[in-house]
Amino acid sequence: MPQVYHLNLSEREIAGAQIALLPGDPARVEKIATTEPIKHGRFVASHREFCTWLGFIGETPIVITSTGIGGPSTAIAVEELAQLGVRIFMRVGTTGAIQPHITVGDVVITTGAVRLDGASTHYAPIEYPAVADYNLVWALVEAAQTLKIPYHVGITCSSATFYPGQERSDSFSRYIIKDLQGTKDEWQRLGVLNYEMEAATLFTMCSALGLRAGCVCGVVDTLTQEQITPESLQRAEQNAIQVAVKATGIFLEKQL
Ligand code: URA
Repeated sequence: MPQVYHLNLSEREIAGAQIALLPGDPARVEKIATTEPIKHGRFVASHREFCTWLGFIGETPIVITSTGIGGPSTAIAVEELAQLGVRIFMRVGTTGAIQPHITVGDVVITTGAVRLDGASTHYAPIEYPAVADYNLVWALVEAAQTLKIPYHVGITCSSATFYPGQERSDSFSRYIIKDLQGTKDEWQRLGVLNYEMEAATLFTMCSALGLRAGCVCGVVDTLTQEQITPESLQRAEQNAIQVAVKATGIFLEKQL
């Protein structure tokens, strides 16, 4: 049975899973795999930034694989999981909010992403939209409402870089090239909710390849709190995981 190279995984090891939950951080994989209603979570493989566990909701296998940070490694994870039979991909990430009404610990459910990621242009021309699967968005909203976790639904900006692309003031040189100066203000004016680094790659490639994708991110920093603290990370991560796992259960139960 063929083994995909970067994930170091075979079809047999993921037990025919067609649904994947995708955190960026390898350390988040086990947390997801051991969150109800996922049961029987167990480690499967680890290679580079790609750590994989397998769990079950009822009889349905769910694979949980970390993508690492950014579009290029996300594209590798999605490509190789698709080669193993996965068809539905849900990102479980963290994010920085750029609208004043969003606070740390809230979750953002992305409907579409601004394609500043770079990698997505290798799957479709830049005019092609980066949009989520409607039913996955619906399941995520239903999950957040049920859990009473504050949520926001809308457009995310996926940046290829964490520092200049998001106009962060805490970079090494503090310099932002002219093309990027003022972009945060502009995205804010255009109603973009948040910055992260993977959704545009995930959505574009999934639509282009006939796969389905969704994305929920916990807010770790905001306009008034640029520093990410252990507490903000923990709250945001916990809320995003709860919503993603609950949404997966809803998705299966309602056969979306
Ligand atoms: N991830 C990002 O890309 N930006 C943030 O501000 C936080 C998480």
